[in-house]
Amino acid sequence: MSISFDFTGRTAVVTGGAQGIGHAIAGMFHAAGAKVAILDRDPEALAAGWAADDRISTHAVDVTDTAAVAATIADVHAWAGGIDIAVNNAGITRDTVVWKMTDDQWRAVLDVHLGGTFAVTRAVVPLMRAAGYGRIVNVTSYTGLHGTIGQSNYAAAKGGIVAFTKTVAKETARFGITVNAISPNAATAMVQAVGPERLAEMTASVPAGRFAEPEEMATAVGYLAAEQSAYVTGVVLPVDGGLAM
Ligand SMILES: NC(=O)c1ccc[n+]([C@@H]2O[C@H](COP(=O)([O-])OP(=O)(O)OC[C@H]3O[C@@H](n4cnc5c(N)ncnc54)[C@H](O)[C@@H]3O)[C@@H](O)[C@H]2O)c1
Repeated sequence: MSISFDFTGRTAVVTGGAQGIGHAIAGMFHAAGAKVAILDRDPEALAAGWAADDRISTHAVDVTDTAAVAATIADVHAWAGGIDIAVNNAGITRDTVVWKMTDDQWRAVLDVHLGGTFAVTRAVVPLMRAAGYGRIVNVTSYTGLHGTIGQSNYAAAKGGIVAFTKTVAKETARFGITVNAISPNAATAMVQAVGPERLAEMTASVPAGRFAEPEEMATAVGYLAAEQSAYVTGVVLPVDGGLAM
C-alpha cells in the first residue's frame, strides 16, 4: 500500500507496536518520515518486528506500569527532542461471560486498555502542551460501542476509552492538541484467536464481507494524526467495513 502522509520531523509513540495493528501504525509513521518509539511488553516480538534504525526506538515496557511508562516517555523525549503523536493501541482480551469472570480477567483487561491509555496520555500531554501541538489517537472497539457477549471486561475498557478520549479532547483542545479514537476491524492474532468457526461468523457480519488488513487501520490513524486534521477532535472513527452501522 502506498503511503501519502508526510510526518517528516515528527515523533510518534505507538504502544503495542510489536505486531498487529500497532506494527502497521508504527510502520506507516516510519514510512512517512517520522521518528517512531514503539512500546510493547513483548521484547521477543519487538526484536522480531523491528530492525535497528536511526528513526526507530523500541522499548520493552508494560503499559500498566505507570512509572515505567513515565520514564520511557521521558527517554523518548530526550532521544527525539519532542513527542508530537501518541497512539494508545496496546491491548489484550480475557474473554468469558460475566458470571464466570475472575477478578484477574477483569482487572487485567481494564488495566492494559484503560490504565495504559491513561498512563501514556498523562505522560505526553504536558510535553504537547509545552509545544502547543499534539495528536493523540486511541484505539477503541465495536465492543466498546455496542457490546459483545463474553467481553464485558473488554467492553467496559473500550467504552471507557471513548469517554476518556472525549474528556481529554475537551481538556486539551485549546493547547493545539487533538484526541481521537479509531474503532478497528482487522485480521490480527487477537481476532484469529477466536477460532475458524467464530471467525467465519464474524466475517459474515461485516457489510464489506471481509476483515481489513492492519495497514488499513494505519491509514485512518495517519489522517487523525496529520497536522491538517487540527479541527477534528473527540471523534470515534469506525474503520470497520460498516460493522457498526
Ligand atoms: N483486530 C481487531 O479487529 C480489533 C478490533 C477492535 C479493537 N482492536 C484493538 O486494536 C488494538 C491492537 O489489537 P491487535 O488486533 O493488533 O492485537 P495483537 O494482539 O495482534 O497486538 C496487541 C499488541 O499489544 C501488546 N500488548 C499487550 N499488552 C500490553 C501491555 N500491557 N503493555 C504493552 N504492550 C502490550 C502485545 O504484546 C501486542 O504486540 C487493541 O487495543 C485491540 O483491542 C482490534
